[in-house]
Amino acid sequence: MFRSINCGDVRISNEGELVTLSGWVHRRRDHGGLIFIDIRDREGLVQVVFNPELDKDIHTKAQDLRSEWVISVVGKVTQRPDGTKNRNMDTGEIEVLATRLDILNTSKTPPFSVEDESQEIDEYLRLKYRYLDMRRTRLRGNLLLRHQVVKFIRDFFSDRGFLEIETSMLTKSTPEGARDYLVPSRLYPGEFYALPQSPQQMKQLLMMGGLEKYFQIARCFRDEDLRSDRQPEFTQLDVEMSFVEEEDILVITEQLFSSLVESLVPDKAIGNPFVRLSYKEAMDRYGTDKPDLRFDMELSDISDIVSNSGLQVFQKTVSAGGVVKAIVAPGCGSYTRRQLDELIAFAKERGAEGLITISLDGSDDQSLESMVEENVRSPVSRYISVKEVIDISKQLNAKYGDLIIISAGQLKLVNVVLSQLRNEMGTRLGMADLNRLAFAFVVDFPLFDWNEEQGRWDSSHHPFTAPRDEDLEKLNSSPGEVTSKAYDLVCNGVELASGSIRIHQRDLQEKIFTLLGHDPIDIDDRFGHMLEALEYGAPPHGGIAPGIDRLMQILTDAESIRDVIAFPKTQGGQDPLFGSPSKVDLQQLRDLHIRVVD
Ligand code: AMO
Repeated sequence: MFRSINCGDVRISNEGELVTLSGWVHRRRDHGGLIFIDIRDREGLVQVVFNPELDKDIHTKAQDLRSEWVISVVGKVTQRPDGTKNRNMDTGEIEVLATRLDILNTSKTPPFSVEDESQEIDEYLRLKYRYLDMRRTRLRGNLLLRHQVVKFIRDFFSDRGFLEIETSMLTKSTPEGARDYLVPSRLYPGEFYALPQSPQQMKQLLMMGGLEKYFQIARCFRDEDLRSDRQPEFTQLDVEMSFVEEEDILVITEQLFSSLVESLVPDKAIGNPFVRLSYKEAMDRYGTDKPDLRFDMELSDISDIVSNSGLQVFQKTVSAGGVVKAIVAPGCGSYTRRQLDELIAFAKERGAEGLITISLDGSDDQSLESMVEENVRSPVSRYISVKEVIDISKQLNAKYGDLIIISAGQLKLVNVVLSQLRNEMGTRLGMADLNRLAFAFVVDFPLFDWNEEQGRWDSSHHPFTAPRDEDLEKLNSSPGEVTSKAYDLVCNGVELASGSIRIHQRDLQEKIFTLLGHDPIDIDDRFGHMLEALEYGAPPHGGIAPGIDRLMQILTDAESIRDVIAFPKTQGGQDPLFGSPSKVDLQQLRDLHIRVVD
């Protein structure tokens, strides 16, 4: 028998019992006569004592033990002597007096310490030796919570009549906006399967198949540029329901996340009901469709105030159809030239030509109305009137001691620059409560985005998304003004989920494909099966897909999505443990009718 109890579970209530423990040598201390070993398993640590007076042989054997050796110990649970108890440790009141030691395996010295988690370890090394990284509490804790989250989700949906159904992995391209991972067919030379970017079409077909309520913990594959919240292979909670409207999906999604957080991460505060913002409101107030709502610092359009400004750039921007928007960084009025230059560099990196800053010098007991030139410190103070600054300050609710940051230009760029500056300043100033999860639904997205490069419309979500009924007319006249039945769930500045009510009529679906620039042959080739299915009594349906990895990243406060995935890829899309991607045998390529051309 390897164990009668887990290392981490031994308590004072076990005092006097003879226990068998198995695990890894975590830490070893040689105190003259006595040897202390902390032995570790998945549940935690317990201290084992080897006393030469109790048993000379196993004490000698224990002298050989090194970090990460695998051992099995039999011993008696005893209370630690007073003064040696460790209240910070679950097993800190007791120790186990060893009467038997079996060495199950030795270990080379690990390339990084499993025991000491205070050091930053190079991530490549952690990924190459992922099995050692997993022995550390942080990753193990994240994977444990991930299991609990997935189990919670499965129970939640099963209890509500949803069926968990697996969809196919070897499939055909579905348009989610990224490149496909392709799998060559051996039996059909020159033909390929695509790995699913999401089970989008299949979940809709399940609804057409009358299954009504579906969910899946679905693996998705997208060949796109990686970021700290993106992996080429990731997991979605994929959900689809028949006979529903937007409200039904939003309600069940809110119920899921509220109850999940309450049960599994009760230390995190959430607000109910979840905030709802229209896409337009989100863009106006935060400059982004995934605002971090843990703090205010809203963007404010000051175009009207500055349209006749003495400052040329303001006037020109407004008359050319651009906008002037601003945010206030509270208490940053004392920023030095260098700090301000840093902000300008930040904006330039994001495509802006510059930023205009105004520091409000003065004390709180002075009113904004009584502002004078001395209160305005700005590189452009010569060109802009005190009256303008007063009006801007009033609109922005700025106070003396604050810094006003202004961006002028085309709306899209101004929003990008100020929304990212807002996040940056929010972080710098510690404005976001780290224990809060600020969930919000963003609704009423436009159906299409104009693709400047290709000169055509793209779906803002995906082409199966239904337009709002009242906007159907505009599909012909002004596609850019059509609002869709799409929604996102955002949390703390991250897009956690996307979904929509789908088109369930063939005519409309065909029309959308045409508007997206597909010709009839292309439509038939890529989506013929979907269009045909829509002709056999497709029910109204809709759904949503939250990203499980991103959810875990938020719940665990992980810096990177890689910290919540057992075997992630690096930022460069590689797996250092397996050494993938890698070359394959020539024969394998031949079987697949593939020749690699340098
Ligand atoms: P979408 O493409 O918005 O929608 O994806 C839904 C959610 O999946 C997560 N996600 C990712 N997570 C990690 N790495 C990635 N590369 C990655 N890409 C996406 C995000 C995102 O919000 N079929 C639709 C959903 C629907 O309409 O029901 C879809 O896939 O959390």
